[in-house]
Amino acid sequence: MKFFIDTANLAQIKEAQDMGVLDGVTTNPSLMAKEGIKGQNNILKHYVDICNITTGDVSAEVIATDFEGMVSEGESLAQLHERIVVKIPMIKDGIKAIKYFTEKGIKTNCTLVFSAGQALLAAKAGATYVSPFIGRLDDVSTDGLSLIDDIRLIYDNYGFETQILAASIRHPMHIIDCAKLGADVATCPLSAIMALLNHPLTTSGLAQFLADAKK
Ligand code: E4P
Repeated sequence: MKFFIDTANLAQIKEAQDMGVLDGVTTNPSLMAKEGIKGQNNILKHYVDICNITTGDVSAEVIATDFEGMVSEGESLAQLHERIVVKIPMIKDGIKAIKYFTEKGIKTNCTLVFSAGQALLAAKAGATYVSPFIGRLDDVSTDGLSLIDDIRLIYDNYGFETQILAASIRHPMHIIDCAKLGADVATCPLSAIMALLNHPLTTSGLAQFLADAKK
C-alpha cells in the first residue's frame, strides 16, 4: 500500500519524506489556501517546491469546471514537473478531460468521488487514481469503507488499472481498514501516519529495555 500525505505544508511533507515512508502528495484548493498560498505564480511555484521534496506523484487540482478550461489548466500543471498528477473533479466535463489526458499520457486523479458508479466512470475514462472521500461519507452517516470495498470488487472484476486512492482519511484505523480492503493508496494527514507508530506496550517495553540496559 502506498502512503501519500494530504497537505500543502512543506514542513509536514518533508517530515514524512524523511521518515522514508512517503510515496506521494495530494493537495486541493482548500489545503493550498490553508497554507496562505495565493496568486497563480505562487501556486505553481508551490507545486514545484512540493515536487522537489517528495520523490512520488504530486496531485495538483484544476479550478476550471468546463472541459476547455480543465484541459488548459491541466496542461500547464503537467508541464511544471514530470511527477505532477492533474486532479480533476468527478463531473461530466471532468470525465471528458480525464479521457483527454489519458490519451496524452498525462496522469490524472479523479477527485470528489462518493459512489461506486462515479468510480466506475473514472476507471472507464482511464484515470490513474480515483479518490473516494471516506471521511466525508462517514461524516454524513454513510459507511465510507464499504465504498472502498465496492470499488475494489468492481475494479478487480474487470481488471481496471485505476488505483484506488482512499482520501479524506481522519485517523489511523481508516488507514488500517483501507489496507485490509485492498486500497492501493491512502492519502493521510501527517497526524494519522504518525499515530500508526503508537502502542503503549511499545512505550513501556522500550522504557524497560533502556532501564535494564543500564544495569
Ligand atoms: C483528497 O485528495 C482530498 O484532498 C482530501 O483527502 C479531502 O479530505 P478532507 O475531507 O479531510 O477535506
